[in-house]
Amino acid sequence: MLNFERDYSLKPFNTFGLDEKAALFVRIQTESQLEELVAHPFYKDNSVLWLGGGSNMLLTKSYDGLVVKLEFKGRKMETISENEARVWVAGGENWHDLVQWTIAQGLGGLENLSLIPGNVGTAPIQNIGAYGVELKDHFESLRAFDLETKAWTSFNRDQCEFGYRQSIFKAKAKGRYVVSGVGFRLKSGMHDLRTHYGAIQDKLAKHKEAPSIKSIAKAVIAIRQSKLPDPAEIGNSGSFFKNPIVSNEAHQRLLKEFPQIVAYPAGANHKKLAAGWLIEKAGWKGYRKGDAGVHNKQALVLVNYGNARGAEIKALSEAIQESVYRTFAVALEAEVNII
Ligand code: EPU
Repeated sequence: MLNFERDYSLKPFNTFGLDEKAALFVRIQTESQLEELVAHPFYKDNSVLWLGGGSNMLLTKSYDGLVVKLEFKGRKMETISENEARVWVAGGENWHDLVQWTIAQGLGGLENLSLIPGNVGTAPIQNIGAYGVELKDHFESLRAFDLETKAWTSFNRDQCEFGYRQSIFKAKAKGRYVVSGVGFRLKSGMHDLRTHYGAIQDKLAKHKEAPSIKSIAKAVIAIRQSKLPDPAEIGNSGSFFKNPIVSNEAHQRLLKEFPQIVAYPAGANHKKLAAGWLIEKAGWKGYRKGDAGVHNKQALVLVNYGNARGAEIKALSEAIQESVYRTFAVALEAEVNII
C-alpha cells in the first residue's frame, strides 16, 4: 500500500532546510513498493522528483509534482577472504552511519569519507569524495530499477563511468535509474590508508595517533567539524560548486597574476583549482544577505541561516559565479542540483 500525502512540506527532507512543498509526496521502503509506484496513475500523470538524503539539492520553489522519498533499509556483510569482505547496503541508509558501522567491523576503505551528509543510494550518483578517497575506490556494484524498461538491473564499477563528482547517472543515464542498494569491497586491518592530505597528517600529529582506520576517521571527523557547518544547525549542502578544472596553460596565466592560487594536478594537462580559494579571494567568505550566506570557515559552502528562500541562495550563487568569472575568468559550475 502506498500512502500519498498532498501539499507536504519538504523542510525535514533537505539539508538546506528550505520550506518548500510537494504537491504529492510518498515514501518507498521496499522494491515491490517501487514497482507498485511506477504502475500508479499518480506516477504516470506527474513529473517526479526522487529524493535520497536531500543533501545535494537546492529547492527554489514548491514542487508541482510527485516527490518520492527513497527509504530502502538494511545492510549485510559477507566475508570474501581472511582480510576482505563485501558489504551490501540499502540505498536509504545514512552514509555516515554506514561508514561508522564498517569501521566498527574492522573494515577499512571508507574512513576518509566519514561525516559526508546524504544517503548510500545517492553516493554513487556523484561519486562522493573527500581527503584523497572517492566512493569508486571501494565500490563493487549497485542494484537499480530501470524506469524505461521497468526492470531491475545491476551496474559494476566500469559501467558506472565514474569521474570527479560524476557518473553515468548524472550524464547519459540521468533520471533513468533508481538505486536500491550498493555493494562495497572492503579490507580489514592495515589496508592502503590514505593520509597524504596535510590536514589529516596535522590532525593525527595533534591527536598523537598513528594512522589506522579508526584514527583517520577520527581525524576526518575533527577536520570536517571544524570547517563545515552541521546541517542540523545551519542549513547547507556541503560544497555548492565543483572545483573547476582548467588547462595547464590557463593555470600558468593565473599563477602570474595570483601566485597564491591553490591548484592540484588533474591528469597530465589540467589542474583542479580550489573553488573555495577563488571565492574567498573574490571577497565572498562570510558574506551574508538576509539569511542567505557564504560560510565563514569554508567559502565553497553556501548556507541558510534560518529562513532564506531557495531563490535567494540561487541568486547568491549566481552573483558568486559572475564575480569569480570577472576576477579570474574561471567558470564555476554548481555541484548541487538546483530544482
Ligand atoms: N580554501 C580557501 N578558502 C576557503 C576554502 C578553501 O582558501 O574558504 C583553500 C584551502 O585553504 C585549501 C583549498 O582551498 O588550500 C582546498 O580546501 P579544502 O581542503 O577545504 O577542500 P575543497 O577543495 O574546498 C573538497 C571537496 C569537499 C571535501 C574536501 C576534502 C569538492 C567540490 N569539495 O573541498 O567535499 O570534503 O575537498 O577532501 O570537491 C562536498 O562535496 O560537499 C564536500 C564538502
